[in-house]
Amino acid sequence: MTVYQATASAPVNIAVIKYWGKRDTKLILPTNSSLSVTLDQDHLRSTTTSRADPSFDHDRLWLNGKEEEIKGDGRTATCIAELKRLRKEVEDADSNAPKLSTFPVHIASYNNFPTAAGLASSASGFAALVSSLAQLYELPASPSTLSLISRQGSGSACRSLYGGYVAWNVGTDPSGVDSNAVEVAPREHWPDMHALICVVSDDKKGTSSTSGMQRTVETSALLQHRIKHVVPQRMADISKAIQERDFDSFAQITMADSNQFHAVALDTAPPIFYLNDVSRSIIQVVVEYNRLSLANGGGYKAAYTYDAGPNAVIYAPEKNMKEIIQLILNYFPQKDAFKDTFALFKNDKAEGKLPA
Ligand code: ADP
Ligand code: DP6
Ligand code: CO
Repeated sequence: MTVYQATASAPVNIAVIKYWGKRDTKLILPTNSSLSVTLDQDHLRSTTTSRADPSFDHDRLWLNGKEEEIKGDGRTATCIAELKRLRKEVEDADSNAPKLSTFPVHIASYNNFPTAAGLASSASGFAALVSSLAQLYELPASPSTLSLISRQGSGSACRSLYGGYVAWNVGTDPSGVDSNAVEVAPREHWPDMHALICVVSDDKKGTSSTSGMQRTVETSALLQHRIKHVVPQRMADISKAIQERDFDSFAQITMADSNQFHAVALDTAPPIFYLNDVSRSIIQVVVEYNRLSLANGGGYKAAYTYDAGPNAVIYAPEKNMKEIIQLILNYFPQKDAFKDTFALFKNDKAEGKLPA
């Protein structure tokens, strides 16, 4: 008997211009464009296996070994339905193709990093889910098609179908066709850019990104200002900074956008707090590190950014990374540290000491 099974893996991406807000919650169309860097190393990835079998009773999903319900009108169901529809087209064009579109699927996914902790697990998760089903169904689908489907699982996932520097266009079409991800520059364009992941806490966040941003859309006046008057210019400016490998501009825009995103979370009613004391201390360490460099006639040396959680991502040129890791470890003695292109630093019980 033939086994119909496929495995795919996808990396996380960490935004430097943050997506926060939907204008269409079903299609997942954002209120603003966003831009991210895909961390295409092995440290933060989702790996997903899908199997289709006529003996299965219904579609099922296991995440990190635990079953998650697939709701009938939910996002996972939408992605599966879209991919089954594309499979059906393959079957209609080739009568020899097995009728996999009629079989239920079982999907098992593992994240090799904390889930739902503000390290973009929904991005790698839905990118890997869509990629594994596309492989299982042997779809002739482009990354662009898979990206549009992943977007309907989790908005940020549309960017994880591409490597390097990736923009997600806000788009204007109500169908969502132009709310797509595009590569701004490949990873090799600026290989000197490295990322340090500081795992301050691997707890599941109290407010999911989905519910948090919905509440922000409903209650925050600051979000309206951000959408209209801030993000469009920042998208243009950071794209130029990336094209020109201008780390000073990249760092200033990245930190300003992280700050505004967390200000918008605070401007939500009731307010949302994603940063904790350790996160804020890491911000102060980076600010001080940059201040000393600037005071000595140098440029920016590092840029922090935080997603919807307390964990820091620090972007910096490779030559500064050793110093940054030392600096962070001085203030927050670590339990485990993996250093590679992307280093992971974990310190659950860190008490943030401020720089002198
Ligand atoms: P994060 O900051 O980690 O992206 P979110 O609140 O955006 O947190 O999304 C977390 C949710 O994404 C999880 O509760 C789960 O439903 C989904 N998710 C995470 N990883 C995967 C995965 N590998 N496969 C499928 N869904 C996943
Ligand atoms: C702060 O993509 O997780 O990480 O579309 O509801 O699944 P849903 O939300 P999600 O939101 C990500 C928010 C962010 C910023 C970003 O990745 O751009
Ligand atoms: Co997410």
